[in-house]
Formats: sequence, C-alpha cells, structure tokens
Amino acid sequence: MDDVMFQSDTVLSDVHLHTPRKRQLMIRLNAVGQPVFLSQFKLLLNESNRNSEKGKRNLKEKTLRCQNSNAEEENVQESTSDPSSPSSTEKEGSSLKGIEALLDEDGDLEVVRKPCFSYAEDENLSRDKVCPIILTKGGVVLEEHEQEDSSCDIIKIEHTMATPLEDVGKQVWRGALLLGDFILCNQDLFKDHTVLELGGGTGIVSIIMAKAAKTIYCTDIGGDLLDMCERNIALNKRFTEPAESKVTVRVLDWLQNDFCTDPDNAYSWSEKEIAELHNLTTVIVAADVFYDDDLTDAFFKMLYRITSDLKHPCSVYLSIEKRLNFTLRHMDVVCEAYSHFRSALNDLQKIRDDKMRYTIELVQLSFPQCIVYERVEQLELWKITADKTSERSTQ
Ligand SMILES: C[S@@+](CC[C@H](N)C(=O)[O-])C[C@H]1O[C@@H](n2cnc3c(N)ncnc32)[C@H](O)[C@@H]1O
Repeated sequence: MDDVMFQSDTVLSDVHLHTPRKRQLMIRLNAVGQPVFLSQFKLLLNESNRNSEKGKRNLKEKTLRCQNSNAEEENVQESTSDPSSPSSTEKEGSSLKGIEALLDEDGDLEVVRKPCFSYAEDENLSRDKVCPIILTKGGVVLEEHEQEDSSCDIIKIEHTMATPLEDVGKQVWRGALLLGDFILCNQDLFKDHTVLELGGGTGIVSIIMAKAAKTIYCTDIGGDLLDMCERNIALNKRFTEPAESKVTVRVLDWLQNDFCTDPDNAYSWSEKEIAELHNLTTVIVAADVFYDDDLTDAFFKMLYRITSDLKHPCSVYLSIEKRLNFTLRHMDVVCEAYSHFRSALNDLQKIRDDKMRYTIELVQLSFPQCIVYERVEQLELWKITADKTSERSTQ
C-alpha cells in the first residue's frame, strides 16, 4: 500500500476515504500534496423513496442500537474512568462492534468502519459522484470546472482533504452530511425561515438549507475559509435560485463578544443584517464543531448570547461525531470532546435565569439517507429549544 505522509498535527475527515477509488485517491494525494479538491455529492432524493422499505428495516435495527447506546451515554463519565467496570467493557465493545478488519490486495491490514445504516450496500448508489477532482495545486489550475451541471441533485463542494487542526473547516465532515440529511428530510421545519449556521466551514449545510429556508447566514472565521465557502455557494446557485433563498457568508467568531462590523473585513456585518438576524432568526445549526473544550465553551456562551438577543424562540440543531481515542491518562478508550459537549448541554439546560429556558433532546436518526456517506453509530443529532422565560410564563 502506498505510504501517505501527513504532518503530526494533520487531521483528516474520512468522508472521502470510503470511495471505491480510495487507492487512486491516495496516490494522487501523495503526488500533489494538499491541493483544493472538488467533490460532487449526489442527493438521493428519489432513490431514498425507492429504498424506503429497506431503509425502514435498517432503521429499526438502528433505533434499537441507538436506544442502547443512549442508556450507556447517561453514565459516560463514570463508565470511562473505570476500565474494569462492566459498563466500560460494554462501551468499548460497542465502539469496536462497527470495526471490521480486512486485508487489501497487498496483504496490508485495512480497517473499515462499518456503516450502521447506509445505502452504500446498494451498488446502484455507489460513491462515484463523490470522487474528488483536483482543481488546483498552489493556485495553478490542473483541471477546469466541468460545465455547470444542470441537475439539482448534485452539490459541488471545493474543499481540501487533510489539514492542520486550525484549517479543519476546509474539509467536509460527516456531521455536516448527517445534518444535511435531516434538513432534506424535514424541509417543512425550515420553509421560509431565517437560519444562522455557526462554524459552517465549506458551506455545505447552508447550501442544503437553501433548498428550504429563505435567508441563511453561513458563518465561520478566517478569510480564506470564508472565500472558499463563498465560492461553494456560487458553485451551487441552482440550489438557491429556485427557492429564491439567499445565503450570506459572514464572519462570526465564538471567541468575540460582538459581531464584526469592521469595514475592512470583506465578511463583516452591516447594522441592518445584525438587526434582521435578531428579528427574524428562528433556527440555528452547527455541524461537527465540538472537538476542543475551550471552543465548545465559547460556542455555548455565544449560543446563549445570540439566542437571548433573538426576538423569537429558536430551534438549534447540532450534529456531532463521537471520536473515540485511547488515552494514556485514562488508560481507556474515551471521547473527551464528546463528554465535554454533553456536560455543556446539561449546563445549558440547567440555566434558570429571568431571560431564557433551554430544553434538550436527542433526535432519533430515523430519517432516510439522501446523501451517500457512512452514517456511523458515532453520529448524533441534538435539538435545543431556546425559549424566552417571559414567553413561557405567559403561556
Ligand atoms: C470540524 S469543522 C466543521 C465544519 C463544517 N461545519 C462541517 O461539518 O463540514 C469546525 C468548524 O468550526 C470552525 N471554528 C473553529 N473555531 C471557531 C471560532 N472561534 N469561531 C467560529 N468558528 C470556529 C472552524 O473554522 C470549522 O469550520
């Protein structure tokens, strides 16, 4: 197997590693370093109906498995700290359940994470459309964009394949595809709403949201990431045009208390936009943004600030993938970022002030897959309902 050289701080969203052409992809990656890629994500809107019976069968199993793992999660902190406890052993077992060892043609060990609910088994729904095309290397165009594809079922996303941690937003993460699926399957929930996306990265969730919502603010930090996001929104104009929706890319840093209104920043906010955001927003979404405890704390502080300034109650949808690591500190397989996220969620729910009340629920992943990706067991979707205290008391 060809060696893949990454730096020690390289992180890799493995969304693209399950393509049938993984080997060629790795060879290309090695040959060209880390250029910008273009991937096509095919939406299986009709196919999902065609496969609904199969989906329902898989879903039944999936729901059962989710219920079991949720019961375990209630005690996540305790169970991970004691490797000898039965719950810890079960947990480790369940984390390994989806892992299957295979040998490739050279006899090397390949570890495949098994999707727990996926249409990927169906050969007709193969991942050809997700095969990335190298667009540029160091600014030099290697391949021209294809002619604009008239199909409304394909989303094209410019992204990189592996990055240092500070550039994770340039990759596409599985949590974004889960959230995208939820939006596609529940478009009525978002129809004509104003939506704020936090940590939008490449913009894929906001682009999908534009199929239903009217106004979407896709936010993140870093000029080059926001440029990439803006290019992706332009690449997928055919999504926004039929719905007459508008996606606006803006800078929003969870570590800052205020909206950036600096006229020198191309992605700063106008006073009108800030007022519209506060007056009209009813939905906030964020995909896979909980991987660093300080950032998670900053995210939840920002969420409290923004939701308490909104005129209307708001539904917040957060996707997360539990990433399990063996740590020497715990001498066990743990997911510290996930545990921190869960405790931040609990803290939010405990808030009892004169402004806000939050309720939290785990969304069952009982909606079909409209995008081809591995819906692994580690993916979760959470819904927070943010209500004004005064509105509750008058109900
Ligand atoms: C793992 S990526 C997820 C990107 C995208 N949501 C997805 O799922 O494909 C995490 C995102 O959080 C953003 N982020 C990190 N720190 C941030 C901050 N202080 N303020 C706003 N966004 C931040 C990153 O730039 C990145 O886009």
